[in-house]
Amino acid sequence: MTTDLANKYGPWGIVAGGSDGVGAAFAQTMAARGMNVVLVARRTSVLEETAAEIRDRHGVEVRTIALDLSDTSAIADLEKATSDLEIGVFVFNAGGGNHSASFLDQSLDTHLELVQRNCVSVLEAAHRFGAPMVARGRGAMVLLSSTSAWIGGASYASYSATKSFDLILAEGLWAEWRDTGVDVLAPVLGLTDTPSMRRVVDAATLEHVEAADPNEVAVEILDHLADGPTWILGSDDPLGGSPFGAMSRRDGVLTMLRMVSAGADS
Ligand SMILES: NC(=O)c1ccc[n+]([C@@H]2O[C@H](COP(=O)([O-])OP(=O)(O)OC[C@H]3O[C@@H](n4cnc5c(N)ncnc54)[C@H](OP(=O)(O)O)[C@@H]3O)[C@@H](O)[C@H]2O)c1
Repeated sequence: MTTDLANKYGPWGIVAGGSDGVGAAFAQTMAARGMNVVLVARRTSVLEETAAEIRDRHGVEVRTIALDLSDTSAIADLEKATSDLEIGVFVFNAGGGNHSASFLDQSLDTHLELVQRNCVSVLEAAHRFGAPMVARGRGAMVLLSSTSAWIGGASYASYSATKSFDLILAEGLWAEWRDTGVDVLAPVLGLTDTPSMRRVVDAATLEHVEAADPNEVAVEILDHLADGPTWILGSDDPLGGSPFGAMSRRDGVLTMLRMVSAGADS
């Protein structure tokens, strides 16, 4: 476990999607462990509020950058806006999806925006920010994934596909960069209590399932940056395989379908 992130990885961290939920918890914990942080999000008021809280609590430098990670120029703009900083840890956190509607009930543009933010921008960030880390021989790249990545599920087909992309991308980068001094991790999150999650999961469902605390999630992930390629939150075996084990892909998809239907009926 690394308590002094700045010493190990470099003085600055970026949290893409760092103003609320798990992202704000990452930023708070990174600041508590000695890093200056760059927070990226769209809503300026929430960004500034979180930034002020982090400065007050931890006395580190905080830079806020308001941009939409679904824009095709977002990561190039972020690279320019941080070109004077040594980025030691990059957390691509923003990634929540709309679980509440079936594939054809959402517009094609909605799906394409999700793919742009959760896949294209993630890949671009890994390339643009990973290259200087590898060149320096230190850094950490964290690409958030989800238990939805294990198997396709009705009502979040495109979301789970993007989270699979992030998981597989991180695993490949971990394999490529493992001797370079750069840690890569795909944390696999289950239900976590954040404002985004509460916008898509109804209150009745939340009465039946326990959602993880975002602060505990962020601390656990930052404790295990060097334990890649994947880290499964809330699992007895965080380094283990898919919870579907040896189940056939079809049975896995049908199990997910029954779970989603039970949630919708409850
Ligand atoms: N919460 C869960 O139950 C859960 C479960 C499994 C996996 N995960 C994963 O954990 C990560 C964090 O989830 P979360 O629940 O905290 O919510 P999230 O919606 O992924 O992240 C919220 C943060 O991202 C920013 N953001 C969202 N879209 C953005 C965009 N297009 N451009 C710039 N910033 C953007 C938000 O600020 P603005 O809205 O102001 O932009 C906010 O700071 C995600 O990758 C998600 O897939 C979450």
